[in-house]
Amino acid sequence: MIKDLWYKNAVFYCLSVGTFMDANADGIGDFQGLMRRLDYLHGLGVTAIWLMPFQKSPGKDDGYDICDYYAVNPAFGSLGDFVEFTHGAAQRGIRVIIDLVVNHTSIEHPWFQEARRDPNSKYRDWYIWSKKRPPHAEEGMVFPGVQKATWSRDPVAKQWYFHRFYKFQPDLNTSHPDVQAEILKIMGFWIQLGVSGFRMDAVPFVIGTKGADVRKPREQYDMLRSLREFLQWRVGDSIILAEANVLPRTDMQYFGDDGDRMHMMFNFQVNQNLFYALAAADTRPLVKAMKKTEQRPASGQWGIFLRNHDELDLGRLTKKQRQRVFDAFGPNPEDQLYNRGIRRRLAPMLNGDRRRLELAYSLMFTLPGTPVLRYGDELAMGDDLSLPERTGCRTPMQWSTEPNGGFTKNGKPVVPVISDGPYGYPHVNAADQRRDPQSMLNWTERIIRMRKEVPEIGWGEFEILKTGDQAVLAIRYDWRNNSVLFLHNFAEEPREIEFSEGIKDRMGNLLVNLLSEEHSQADKNGRHRVCLEGYGYRWYRVGGLDYLLKRSKT
Ligand code: NOJ
Ligand code: CA
Repeated sequence: MIKDLWYKNAVFYCLSVGTFMDANADGIGDFQGLMRRLDYLHGLGVTAIWLMPFQKSPGKDDGYDICDYYAVNPAFGSLGDFVEFTHGAAQRGIRVIIDLVVNHTSIEHPWFQEARRDPNSKYRDWYIWSKKRPPHAEEGMVFPGVQKATWSRDPVAKQWYFHRFYKFQPDLNTSHPDVQAEILKIMGFWIQLGVSGFRMDAVPFVIGTKGADVRKPREQYDMLRSLREFLQWRVGDSIILAEANVLPRTDMQYFGDDGDRMHMMFNFQVNQNLFYALAAADTRPLVKAMKKTEQRPASGQWGIFLRNHDELDLGRLTKKQRQRVFDAFGPNPEDQLYNRGIRRRLAPMLNGDRRRLELAYSLMFTLPGTPVLRYGDELAMGDDLSLPERTGCRTPMQWSTEPNGGFTKNGKPVVPVISDGPYGYPHVNAADQRRDPQSMLNWTERIIRMRKEVPEIGWGEFEILKTGDQAVLAIRYDWRNNSVLFLHNFAEEPREIEFSEGIKDRMGNLLVNLLSEEHSQADKNGRHRVCLEGYGYRWYRVGGLDYLLKRSKT
């Protein structure tokens, strides 16, 4: 196999245009502002941007309620500005993938408006209707506590319509051939404007059967293959990154046995167990999650993330494990959301403890897959819990100590910039951190630079090494005649561990530290002994630094 699939050794950065940079001073971020910050992103070293929804939308779910798939929300600029942006990114070698939100539209979408008014409209069948209130109308909500039902009565159609998410997001009838054709058309449109693929929203729901008589949806996995085929016919190296919080046993259905479905998936399993490991200093469930999600086609890839724009969903942990994470990182009712998650940003969850932040990010960059960073996390930005639901972790980027953190010249930004407390922009901002060699920003830049030179993580096979200590994770990757090895101590106390790197007759017993001068030489029995400080981590190359001279072609 030719090994140049760009997403296998990429660094993703997720941002939303509305809260990144406001160029025209109307208080809302825009594509022109984002353009001006491309050099910042380039300098940080990220190689792909995941852009959150920016299409025309009433904005009731931060753009995940679209009312025109072929238009840019005028507040963000024009289609012309969008193309300038993708072009500017490409010039700097940065790929752009965008959200593909086709499980549902906004209730204001003309398709729904026509569908509800006219039973004979061709759009009627694009949505899911029921003459009577389905008996399970109060089941299957994605936002429990906020969302009351999955079926609501439409006074215009005088029928009930299905909405997996909020009431203002009617589900599209994604089994309908015309809807499927439209989805391809939408993909084709944006591909033509310079994007390299899509982060596909709510995939299990898109491919699930829908209807008043459907109690347990059945996934129509074949749909995934046709999406991929279409995409790759148009632009060969474009990808789909699936948002599918599913159980490991169905992962291969999403990737496809022959790697013929989704290119990438977010690894929710590893994400949740990683937070448990951070909370409990117990790596065993994390190791289990890694092994359960180990299998994937050679061209498939996991997206490894810590936090995103949603709540930290802990729904897949046991009750006890979940409670442990709540106790550690979000004990107050206002920290929590939807009875299953934490709505905080990472830095406040970890109490701003730099050692723990580095540990968490070092893990994000070294667990099997491609790291997906969230904007502002490179500065250890905080959250504003006075804002409703998930908006609390969606505040504007903090650029400088200037008014509104340099995000806008307008006195009233769309979402308030965090200005008070330890995470306010006077303390946490990009400009100050640029000048401080020890800052989180400069640490992140250095670690990204190193991560890109360790393709073994994205491409290789991994092995968990025995350390005899459940608080310490030791992982080795092998790829093309080279090996790298990572240690992470989840405990607050220092730990001394002993291990063997597990490679026979190859490269000697030297572990070259990639981040500091502290290398490790095995004893005559081939055992290494390393003392890790509390929350300490190590990145090693096995053998010497002549690894590139030794790399094999396959
Ligand atoms: C998942 C997105 O991440 C979330 O933000 C959104 O509310 C739902 N899908 C509905 O589109
Ligand atoms: Ca603006």
